[in-house]
Amino acid sequence: MQFLYPSEISFEKGLRHNVAKRIKELDTVPKKITVFSGSGSYANEILTELKNHFTVQIINGLPTEPSIVDLDELLSKTKGFQPELILGIGGGSVIDTAKAVALLTPYPKSARFYFNDQSLLKHRGIPFVAMPTTAGSGAEITKNSVFRTPDGSNKLSLRSKYMIATNAWIDPELTYTCPYSITFHSGMDALTQAIEASMSRKRNEATESLAIEAVKLCISGVEGLLINLNNADSRDQLAKGSLLAALAFSQTGLGAVHGLAHPIGAKYKVPHGLCCAVLLPHILKINILKCKEKFKVLDSLNDGVCLYNKVLELNTNIGIPTDFKKWNISNNDFLEIIRLSKSNSMSCNPFEMKDEDILDILTELTK
Ligand SMILES: [Fe+2]
Repeated sequence: MQFLYPSEISFEKGLRHNVAKRIKELDTVPKKITVFSGSGSYANEILTELKNHFTVQIINGLPTEPSIVDLDELLSKTKGFQPELILGIGGGSVIDTAKAVALLTPYPKSARFYFNDQSLLKHRGIPFVAMPTTAGSGAEITKNSVFRTPDGSNKLSLRSKYMIATNAWIDPELTYTCPYSITFHSGMDALTQAIEASMSRKRNEATESLAIEAVKLCISGVEGLLINLNNADSRDQLAKGSLLAALAFSQTGLGAVHGLAHPIGAKYKVPHGLCCAVLLPHILKINILKCKEKFKVLDSLNDGVCLYNKVLELNTNIGIPTDFKKWNISNNDFLEIIRLSKSNSMSCNPFEMKDEDILDILTELTK
């Protein structure tokens, strides 16, 4: 067993009020900081405080799901400023981007070059602090960043243990103002990640406990927020569920939902969390059919409602489509989607999916 995590992970309500103080307590105190930030009033509060203590470069207005070309532009902007610390405050895409820039800033060549040969990533970049403002991606914990390919036809991961954030600072209150769609798309992404981690072929006793607790917290958080989007306890539950899911899946990998979500999401511009939510019941159905035994614990978590039915119920109540019909996925693309789905995530699915299995799922989702 091996566990690779940030050297500090803090989950604390109100943590955002002490960001400058926390930065001054790091091993090396920076003078210049580059902050990658999403929109949102909380990010502005933190930036105002930081500007009183450090020289700050602010990079915001990032594309929703950036490409490798976007990454290269942001990398050269950051290199020009020469920061000693990078702080990412935002959703999964903002943190993924900041994380990749922090790794690549000391490297001499373009990001595109290292995507082609990741064995060249042989040392850490500059220190990186991650502060998520959504509950779902887990990017504050993971060792990879996902970007669209330059032609937009797929997504690729930059993957390195040197990319793991130095510090993950999670203030669940940063998620309180998330709008409906981001809340539930991220929430279903977190639930998917928890379920896939609990089923992964690379799971172990520790990750299994984390993942099962994450499944419980994500379900109760999403259910509570469906009743009242401003329920602080439910927001906290979902944020904690997302963190525990990330602590598990960052070590175990994911599964077929994420294997398929990346090529479908990239080519047809389906937001990642929504894409996972649409796929989840379809993948669960075939995984349960092939590995029924493995679902015993997950099926026992919801007062007699099996996991599959619980996921269907959540999707219906959120308003997630049951298939991809509205995205007009062409069956001419099926072979390409199947080819691109054979990623690291797919290799962790509890049983080995054959091309025919994936073809059946794609047909059911688009007919
Ligand atoms: Fe995900």
